[in-house]
Amino acid sequence: MKRLKTRPVAITVVFVLAAGIFILQGCSKEHLPDPVVYFQQDVFPVIISNCTQSGCHGTVATGGEFRLTSYNDILRIVSPGDYKGSRLYQALVRPVGYMPQGSSRLSDEDIRTIALWIEQGAENNSGDSGCNTDNVTYSNTVAPILQAWCYSCHSGSFPSGNIKLDAYSAVRPLVDNGKLLGTIRHESGYLPMPDGGGKMPTCEISKIEQWVSDGAPDN
Ligand code: HEC
Repeated sequence: MKRLKTRPVAITVVFVLAAGIFILQGCSKEHLPDPVVYFQQDVFPVIISNCTQSGCHGTVATGGEFRLTSYNDILRIVSPGDYKGSRLYQALVRPVGYMPQGSSRLSDEDIRTIALWIEQGAENNSGDSGCNTDNVTYSNTVAPILQAWCYSCHSGSFPSGNIKLDAYSAVRPLVDNGKLLGTIRHESGYLPMPDGGGKMPTCEISKIEQWVSDGAPDN
């Protein structure tokens, strides 16, 4: 008789314990892994479009010894695996005298991207395995590339050179007069873009070339 009575109690205890363990495990569950950050697609455009313009960290480096137009240049101010110890990161987050000088701070998202890339080993990695130029469109391919590499100077109320690149209607005339491809391929007779000596990765250029040879449609 006594045994029968204690049984439901025992079952309840076991159930409560199990539920407790389950809940505790849920709480200590690891957060989702951070996304892999790629130098070529995520980090390089942020640096090229915010730091390497004339008078700053471009090919003609007036910013001290700090030319930042290539991976090797950038690596000189990075300690792979240690974002807090990296001069690049420190320059972005300093409370006073931060970079970019005389401009607003980079967005939290851009700073986080750079910090993550350094934590992940600061490799010269690319998210494009092989370069796929199939199904290239203006809205899904070209506009995001221009946004990453060109909008910082060529959008808003006072675009550099009075050239806007943030709408199809503004980009199309530059396709027709040859300036879009001429500038991004660094052809002679054109100002090399992005300004300051950096060049977009070959794959980004190939995608834009493909779109232009498709007739540069508004798709
Ligand atoms: C860091 C700022 C900056 C970035 C980033 C930048 N540009 Fe420029 N761009 C300039 C400046 C400044 C000029 C005007 C130079 C002048 O008139 O002397 C210019 C001019 C141009 C011109 C006009 C050239 C001509 O011959 O009239 C084109 C086209 C152009 N940029 C395309 C691009 C494209 C495409 C990108 C992205 C791949 C880009 N730019 C990224 C600063 C920038």
